[in-house]
Amino acid sequence: MKWPRTDLCDLFGIEHPILLAPMSGATTPALVAAVSNAGGLGGHGCTTFSGVAFREQVAAIRSASNRPFHVNFFAHVDPPKDGQAGPAMRAMLQDLWNENGLGVLPAAEASWPTFGNELLEAVLETRPAVVSFHFGMPEASVIAAIKQAGCILLCSATTVAEAVALEAAGVDAVIAQGAEAGGHRGTFLGDVMGGTVGTMVLVPQIAWAVNIPVIAAGGIMDGRGIAAAFALGASGVQLGTAFLSCPEASVSEDQRAALLAACTRDTPTLVTKGVSGRPARGLSNRLLTSVVQLEDQAAPFPMQNALTRQLSGLGDPDLAVMWAGAGAGASRAMPASELMATLIDETQTALVGLT
Ligand SMILES: Cc1cc2nc3c(=O)[nH]c(=O)nc-3n(C[C@H](O)[C@H](O)[C@H](O)COP(=O)(O)O)c2cc1C
Repeated sequence: MKWPRTDLCDLFGIEHPILLAPMSGATTPALVAAVSNAGGLGGHGCTTFSGVAFREQVAAIRSASNRPFHVNFFAHVDPPKDGQAGPAMRAMLQDLWNENGLGVLPAAEASWPTFGNELLEAVLETRPAVVSFHFGMPEASVIAAIKQAGCILLCSATTVAEAVALEAAGVDAVIAQGAEAGGHRGTFLGDVMGGTVGTMVLVPQIAWAVNIPVIAAGGIMDGRGIAAAFALGASGVQLGTAFLSCPEASVSEDQRAALLAACTRDTPTLVTKGVSGRPARGLSNRLLTSVVQLEDQAAPFPMQNALTRQLSGLGDPDLAVMWAGAGAGASRAMPASELMATLIDETQTALVGLT
């Protein structure tokens, strides 16, 4: 396959400029290795890991692949200790807890900190080829240390201003995350609800504004979407939702079934900060439609998770948090290597068909 732009492949040392989106809780070493072995760039969501667990995950990926991959962390500002959900949000969630015999709603608290020294040491020791951040970048000394270790740096932008700031901070390529994207919006400058521009609008504007390669993300599910991203000025794509229905992904059977059933109907997804404290897109169900109405009363990210996690763990599809993008209805169940081969073939066909 001859790609229209190869700067990203050259940067990473890969054959196909298709990135597996790092998805905390959903990506696995097997999925990461399968995408990298197929010539793309596997990505692993590592934000909730301890340093020890991170080292184990990197070792597991390396035992299954000797190709480059990327590891991803959240670089959010830690919340104030006394940040709590508002009374109406707590009352509504307490009703859901009562209905399910979960007892008294606890105080909101953060179950993991932002990227700090423990994970930094583990990154510097293991030196993955590529390191990516979400919710902005860590402080300059941390960026310098990671670059000095020889890692390539990526970060998501949801606005042109963010992309320009990331280029100035020294990232090697920018991920343009459009509003269709599943999971958390990476917005880090200004209003967190402000970064809601769609992929088709965001990618060309960011491609104009920066001189580093642009990776399009959000709603890309097949080769037609990949070809479109190149037409808009991207040098590569990052797909998350499309890989959730691969057998190597760690998703509940309910989420897998919901994604695949989605092919036969419209699949409503919605963005709310009511689940975690930051805006994120997931499959619409009772939990998401309930919290979205009171989302201004959510505890700060990631503390709100402490109020919704137990509900999500009940195994009830109406109450489970199933992060997914607006393209969920185009999900296909196939092993990651087969999905990669299909995406590459489809892109070629789409590119040829346009000429
Ligand atoms: C289940 C799920 C979990 C995600 N977790 C992360 C994460 O941990 N770190 C991150 O940078 N992005 C995360 N994202 C966002 C992706 O990086 C990417 O922006 C998004 O998947 C692209 O849109 P798409 O899902 O429509 O392909 C997640 C997305 C999903 C669907």
